[in-house]
Amino acid sequence: MSPWRPGQRRPDTASMLRVNQAGEYGATRIYAGQLAVLRPNSPAARLISRMADQEQAHLTRFNALMSERGVRPTALQPFWTVAGFALGAATALISEEAAMACTEAVETEIDKHYGHQLSSLGQDDPELAADIERFREDELEHRDTARDAGAARAPGYPLLTAAIRAGCKVAIALSKRV
Ligand SMILES: [Fe+2]
Ligand SMILES: [Fe+2]
Repeated sequence: MSPWRPGQRRPDTASMLRVNQAGEYGATRIYAGQLAVLRPNSPAARLISRMADQEQAHLTRFNALMSERGVRPTALQPFWTVAGFALGAATALISEEAAMACTEAVETEIDKHYGHQLSSLGQDDPELAADIERFREDELEHRDTARDAGAARAPGYPLLTAAIRAGCKVAIALSKRV
């Protein structure tokens, strides 16, 4: 047996699952907040409903994997319930474009996050890796949808997206641990 060396550890897939479930849950809350504010059947609301359905499917899948594997959810769940909804509602109150800028910012971070996970998984846990790969494609599609829908026209776009991306990084770091 070769001695343990840093960097050779098996990836902590329980922690990965926990942060991913928290993220998908947060996404459903963001979209719920946006849909609560946006005029039903407006073009933005229709795009967002479609994306929200996909987030729900991602969440359902991670929920199933967690209960199969006995992984506990993040203790921060109640916080994300409120914070996700508030972020969604606040951005939608600014404008439809700000709601789209929110999606663009969130999905940019999620894409990076899923990319990091896939490279640290390597050949480990192909079941989880396959889900992450599939969901990552959906997230990239969401990002592009938001761009096409005018995210960059949101007031204060650079600051808004920078702030949301910073928030996502904090959320990801916390949910891995707590
Ligand atoms: Fe998702
Ligand atoms: Fe998404």
